[in-house]
Amino acid sequence: MSTRGRSRPVPVARVGTARVVVASGLSVNTAPTTYAIRVEGHLDDHWSAWLGGLDMTRDDDGATTVTVQAADQAQLHGVLAGLRDIGAVIAELRTTDAPVPSALERPLRTERLTLRPATADDAEATWKFRRLDPVNEWLTGCPADLAGYRELFSEPARLATTVIVTLGHDPAAPIIGDLMLRREDAWAQREVADQARDTQAELGWVLDPTYTGRGYATEAVRELLRYCFQDLGVRRVTANCFLENDTSWRLMERVGMRRELHAVRESLHRIGQWLDTVGYAILDAEWSPT
Ligand SMILES: CC(C)(COP(=O)(O)OP(=O)(O)OC[C@H]1O[C@@H](n2cnc3c(N)ncnc32)[C@H](O)[C@@H]1OP(=O)(O)O)[C@@H](O)C(=O)NCCC(=O)NCCS
Repeated sequence: MSTRGRSRPVPVARVGTARVVVASGLSVNTAPTTYAIRVEGHLDDHWSAWLGGLDMTRDDDGATTVTVQAADQAQLHGVLAGLRDIGAVIAELRTTDAPVPSALERPLRTERLTLRPATADDAEATWKFRRLDPVNEWLTGCPADLAGYRELFSEPARLATTVIVTLGHDPAAPIIGDLMLRREDAWAQREVADQARDTQAELGWVLDPTYTGRGYATEAVRELLRYCFQDLGVRRVTANCFLENDTSWRLMERVGMRRELHAVRESLHRIGQWLDTVGYAILDAEWSPT
């Protein structure tokens, strides 16, 4: 019997983002904290893979600094437990302000659109459409005040996974939506965990309602799929949404994704009802440029 998909362990590394709500399709990440953990002695590189791909630097003073992004204490404890399991002696634990690089490494152009990494300056433009009821209805949530939203939007992990969509190619082109692009490790058994690192991506999307119904989301997501498979070299791309959010899952089907999960009354909507969610995916072997 396969145990895959059951009791999936939280990877002890690459834990920079913790999904809070699965069904939103644009999962919101808790703010990760970057920790530098100093351990006594020089750790061999193979421990990095064993621990799920932790970044390790061997310091001149004979210690090793392990860097990890953890979204909550449980994830941090997972890393500490992993280090303890391999017999590492922890000398120091501190937080750092290391920047999180964007998942989109460069701007992309389609016939009608530009996709570019988000900056903190994009907060107000995206808040204007995200706070609208027909949009927020399907999202994890949107602070009612701009200051609260700005704070959330500007979190390094959030910015790093947010892609801005503008109409046209001019630097002053209007922002018509935003996408989520998050690289992930596939689940893997420990001995082969290093081969599963960054092999997947999860996508999400939001369009300003002024611009829906014209194929802009389809065009943007198709380009993001191309980027994932051709530029990033991932092997599987996923997306999910509430079953009731048919505009979202029809978009998934338009771009060639396959429904592979229907979870019954699995996620709690703010209307107070447990709603069904659907999960879609596409493999590199199934994808073709259109
Ligand atoms: C999900 C969402 C991005 C989909 O937007 P959308 O406008 O339906 O998607 P597109 O921009 O690809 O447009 C497709 C529509 O335009 C039409 N269209 C017109 N020209 C088109 C073209 N050149 N190419 C493709 N479709 C075109 C399609 O027929 C389709 O209309 P239909 O649904 O009536 O068949 C949008 O509804 C949204 O932001 N919703 C709120 C936030 C949300 O739910 N996010 C997802 C959370 S999981």
